[in-house]
Amino acid sequence: MQNQTPARKRDDARIGLALYQPDIALNVGAVLRLGACLGVPVHVIEPCGFAFSPAAWRRSAMDYADLTEICRHDSWDAFQAERADGRLVALTTKGAGALWDFAFAPGDTLLIGRESAGLPNGVHQAADARVVIPMQPGARSLNMAMAAAIAVAEAGRQLGASAAAGQDDAVGVHPG
Ligand SMILES: C[S@@+](CC[C@H](N)C(=O)[O-])C[C@H]1O[C@@H](n2cnc3c(N)ncnc32)[C@H](O)[C@@H]1O
Repeated sequence: MQNQTPARKRDDARIGLALYQPDIALNVGAVLRLGACLGVPVHVIEPCGFAFSPAAWRRSAMDYADLTEICRHDSWDAFQAERADGRLVALTTKGAGALWDFAFAPGDTLLIGRESAGLPNGVHQAADARVVIPMQPGARSLNMAMAAAIAVAEAGRQLGASAAAGQDDAVGVHPG
């Protein structure tokens, strides 16, 4: 597949995004576009709720899909084995601490749960950190692509990176 998982880079210092078993192709498309625009690699952990194929991601992300570094993993276990070193930071509505208080580090991968069920307990616990984007009382959750965008923007802000792709002097978030 085009943009398939690149050779494993143990020392990848970029911020990454990982989508855990996403249900909705349009949401994945929005995240792929985010990855293309901000230079963030996107990991997709199967099984998805739809056939995750180049045709599907081009339908949802248009030509942005070709600009995104897409890493597809067959399962959670495969993702854990194949991903680069660095912390796994779970975005969760059951987060231990607010996103705004969390100190990001180069190489962090931001893990986003599935639309229908979030992250299962085992995955939640396997993460190195868990953070919540504070919401208004009574609000259940953000759209997953929105949560991804907010978290990537905060990580880039903290790490001193211009989120714009093509800025080679960016620290932490690099063009893919
Ligand atoms: C639609 S939400 C999942 C809702 C699911 N029913 C649940 O209880 O977790 C999809 C994903 O977006 C992210 N997300 C949504 N709102 C969030 C928030 N306020 N803080 C952190 N992550 C959030 C999480 O990764 C979540 O698993």
